[in-house]
Amino acid sequence: MNGNNRFRQIHRWLSVAFTEAVIVNIIAVPRGKSTDWVGLLALLPPCLLMLIGL
Ligand code: HEM
Repeated sequence: MNGNNRFRQIHRWLSVAFTEAVIVNIIAVPRGKSTDWVGLLALLPPCLLMLIGL
């Protein structure tokens, strides 16, 4: 596997993690069960996605 493929794979899995974190937030926020930690869960993956995507 060359470097480009590895970056694509990391980008792909981070996008899955981000999607799941968004779903967790959509469920937790209206129930008032959100915490700083839950919010940050959805913030880190897109930052990494941007760095790797760029
Ligand atoms: C600023 C943020 C982002 C940048 C600059 C970026 C950039 C890119 C680039 C350049 C590609 C390759 C496209 C190609 O070769 O045709 C790509 C693929 C992809 N991106 Fe992003 N992306 C970003 C954020 C996201 C986010 C937020 C998601 C989803 C939650 C996402 C999901 C994907 C997926 C699933 C692919 C296809 C990966 C593969 O299977 O090879 N990206 N992105």
